[in-house]
Amino acid sequence: MDAFGIDIGGSGIKGAPVDLTKGCFAAERLRIPTPEQSTPDAVAGICRQLLEHFSVEPSVPVGVAFPAPVHPGRPIGYMSNLDQSWVGVDITAKLSEACGRPVHVVNDADAAGLGESLYGEARAYRGLVVTVTLGTGIGTALVMDGKLIPNSELGHIIMGKHGEDAESLAADSARQREELSWKKWGKRLTKYLQLLEFYLSPEAFIIGGGVSKKHEKFFPYIEVDTPLYPATLLNDAGIIGAAAFAASQGR
Ligand code: BGC
Repeated sequence: MDAFGIDIGGSGIKGAPVDLTKGCFAAERLRIPTPEQSTPDAVAGICRQLLEHFSVEPSVPVGVAFPAPVHPGRPIGYMSNLDQSWVGVDITAKLSEACGRPVHVVNDADAAGLGESLYGEARAYRGLVVTVTLGTGIGTALVMDGKLIPNSELGHIIMGKHGEDAESLAADSARQREELSWKKWGKRLTKYLQLLEFYLSPEAFIIGGGVSKKHEKFFPYIEVDTPLYPATLLNDAGIIGAAAFAASQGR
């Protein structure tokens, strides 16, 4: 096993062994629903369970994609989509202890952006590629000439008339909560991506998250000048990117 990746999300915690040469899963992934009380202990326990399920040897690099800004060695300062008790926790230390080995933690959107820049459509681009993940929240990854600029958090830019952030209006969870049509959601995504386009002038946008599987349904309603692609790795990018990140850090 080259490396193992875990993706911690608002609705599921997923893990799989990763083939880093091909940029794909080396075995079928396992998904465990995120507990309603998604506390550090509950989530760390599931990470341990995933490693046990796949009998991951201690020598295998383990990467974890996490839905908050991640600064190794510093406590989590901000948490939008998991239990608030994460604030103040040193996630790398917490998960390493629970998993009985060092693990490498990276922001989930950054993991997806890395995965795409290593194995996906973004590989063809120089300059700035912006990956946007649409799920419970909105995550963003900035990759410049193949190098990650971490923790960009552009899902929280203000977009609504009453100060609402982009995530609360245009995440896939907003589409489901408000039962928006693909067209209406596509219009919101247009507004959001046009803001990113104006501020960042990227070479390309990559759209990830579970809903990227259904890109035919909403891409026709997105109007931007920047080339737009669904994530090549679809929703696997987080796991694959986290595993590649871990391998690049050494054990
Ligand atoms: C978090 C980001 C994360 C994104 C996607 C946002 O609410 O602040 O760190 O990447 O959700 O999970």
